[in-house]
Amino acid sequence: MCGIVGYIGNRNIADTLIDGLKRLEYRGYDSAGIAVIVKKKIISIKAVGKVSALSAKITPAIRKELSSSKFGIAHTRWATHGAPSERNAHPHLDEKGRFAVVHNGIIENYASLKERLISQGHKFVSETDTEVLAHLIDDCYEGDLLQAVAAALKKVEGTFGIAVISSENPGQIITARRGSPIVIGIGTGETIVASDISAIVSYTDKVIYLNDNDIALVEKDNVDLRNIDNVPVTREIAHINWDPGAAEKGGYEHFMLKEIFEQPEAIANSIRGRLDEEQGTGALSGLNLTPQDLATINRIIIAACGTSLHAGMVGEYYFEDLADIPTEVEQAAEFRYRNPIIHPGTMIIAISQSGETADTLAAVREAKNKGAIVAGICNVVGSTIPRETGRGIYLHAGPEIGVASTKAFTCQVATLLMMALKFGRARRLSRQNGIELVADIHRIPELVKKVLAKSKDIAKIAKKYANAHDFFFIGRGYLYPVAIEGALKLKEISYVHAEGYHAAELKHGPIALLDEKVPVLALANNIPGKDKIIGNMQECKARKAPVIALATEGDNEIRRHAEDIIWIPECSSETAPIPSVVALQLLAYYIAKERGCPIDQPRNLAKSVTVE
Ligand code: F6R
Repeated sequence: MCGIVGYIGNRNIADTLIDGLKRLEYRGYDSAGIAVIVKKKIISIKAVGKVSALSAKITPAIRKELSSSKFGIAHTRWATHGAPSERNAHPHLDEKGRFAVVHNGIIENYASLKERLISQGHKFVSETDTEVLAHLIDDCYEGDLLQAVAAALKKVEGTFGIAVISSENPGQIITARRGSPIVIGIGTGETIVASDISAIVSYTDKVIYLNDNDIALVEKDNVDLRNIDNVPVTREIAHINWDPGAAEKGGYEHFMLKEIFEQPEAIANSIRGRLDEEQGTGALSGLNLTPQDLATINRIIIAACGTSLHAGMVGEYYFEDLADIPTEVEQAAEFRYRNPIIHPGTMIIAISQSGETADTLAAVREAKNKGAIVAGICNVVGSTIPRETGRGIYLHAGPEIGVASTKAFTCQVATLLMMALKFGRARRLSRQNGIELVADIHRIPELVKKVLAKSKDIAKIAKKYANAHDFFFIGRGYLYPVAIEGALKLKEISYVHAEGYHAAELKHGPIALLDEKVPVLALANNIPGKDKIIGNMQECKARKAPVIALATEGDNEIRRHAEDIIWIPECSSETAPIPSVVALQLLAYYIAKERGCPIDQPRNLAKSVTVE
């Protein structure tokens, strides 16, 4: 969603802020802006569209003018209140032009605050909720910027990650968070504030993650951390272990393609050191659960959104089949608002690539309040969900920059399988079964490589179907969630209307939509359920729908039932979702490419959804 960058140090300020914004581009946005103080005056430049449009506005003359300043703030906006326009783009200023604010999140009581401020004579220029913050800070200012910002924040309801500068307090950036992440990068003679570590990694590997209600006075060589009641707080300095090059395209045309091809390595990183071959179990110390603890878990609820939710659906099968634990999967927003029943022995697993998704985080808090055992499965180290759950598993998939989640999904599924194996071994799974499953999990990276080797064949199939307006994906059992995920991938990056259905459900309504123009992709791998899905494919063919099958190599029988076939290597039911989804990611990618879509930044989407 929105992105924040603040910088204070000796580098060229315009270049540094623009560089930071470019590194946040992947999150999705519609306008951008910067604010820098030159000769005690705030200069703000904004543009609608890409960061390159903003960069083009910074002419050599402006760049020179700004270069005397050593600090500033910048923002990429994903519109919530008010359309994307220069007026609504951040930074927002008070009418005297003394304070500039960039903000992620939503100020829920902005309408009443705005009304009061207007009645006191403040003049607003935008339709945003954020602008009230600039006026409120002006209202509260008595010479100390940190105190003014803290006082203003006490009046607001809602969520925020902010950075503020003032022409009255040169050399200072105030930053604060409640519900929307802020990270401070500690360099040598420079400090960077950002909403996401990708804007920081190229400057330093030392970071401080703010907690909710933390506020910080940031200077070139100093960070003064307090809580909103002005009590000093200490936060650990964490070390980021990202290779800055991991957030580059590395020769691939799109981040999404790079991330699809990175999956063998990403999955190998997820499983490395986490399998005990001898005992046939998972070695997941981050869960911090003894076999006795595991024996007391009698119900699991998985809460997540989007692609992570689909990984959770595969997890449901794993926990029930392997560990005998009744498991439900809930859209995280539904979980948080419908007052879930949590009894002793209920465990909540929150799955989130970013670790910042607002609804998933709220589900974690609700579960903790109700006394559940809560664990996170997240990718971004140090993000809010793993910090709040205090137990869980990091994916170690490396940064995922493409808006469409790919490697996070396969690593989530592999992690859920290791978790179910561990839970299963503490309950009913035999050592021999465990050993076989461990061997299966070790084979996953090789299975994925085999699918990637077929990318050219998949591209050909994609070309044939690239002009379809509607698509159906059908699957059963372990491959049912994969059908839904495959449809999501296609719709989000190619804008083709796609639906993922249980194969048996098609004839309960959606089959009415089938004709010769609506392709159906059937996950017909050679695992239990295949015979049934062949019947479903026949039903589609009978309605003249072109059928594309995902099938197991060597299964020649399938040729009689499908016009096109994507071959998947032979594998177990448990591991089948992973190579299968990789094929569907490639299909979606190549269809989107054929259609000329902006694959890494699809319209209207944001990488990390930090508002409800
Ligand atoms: C789809 C996609 C989204 C995310 C969802 C949850 O490709 O990326 O559906 O999966 O927004 O995000 P996380 O996993 O960060 O909680």
